[in-house]
Amino acid sequence: MNTENLLEVRDVVKYYPVTGGIFLRQIASVKAVDGVSLGILPGETLGLVGESGCGKSTLGRIILRLEEPTRGDILFQGKASWA
Ligand SMILES: Nc1ncnc2c1ncn2[C@@H]1O[C@H](COP(=O)(O)OP(=O)(O)OP(=O)(O)O)[C@@H](O)[C@H]1O
Ligand SMILES: [Mg+2]
Repeated sequence: MNTENLLEVRDVVKYYPVTGGIFLRQIASVKAVDGVSLGILPGETLGLVGESGCGKSTLGRIILRLEEPTRGDILFQGKASWA
């Protein structure tokens, strides 16, 4: 039996800046994903369920490398997907 994760998500965080004022300075941040860790074994299927706006699509985009995480690591076949 293979017990090595095919995909591993380690403490992934994504904050989007919220800007305001005439100088459009950062006044706050949207914590879209705030510390998610999970592992998927070969052949395994994982469902991500949660209320609207809880960060499912953001996490998916980060796993697919369409977006960079603020913090955290994504490992595919044991290798970091962000060099
Ligand atoms: N590019 C962005 N800039 C700023 N905030 C964003 C951005 N993308 C997503 N967000 C915010 O991050 C949070 C998570 O959004 P996300 O789309 O990941 O949720 P979701 O779980 O996929 O929701 P749904 O079930 O409605 O598809 C929301 O508050 C959303 O408004
Ligand atoms: Mg979504």
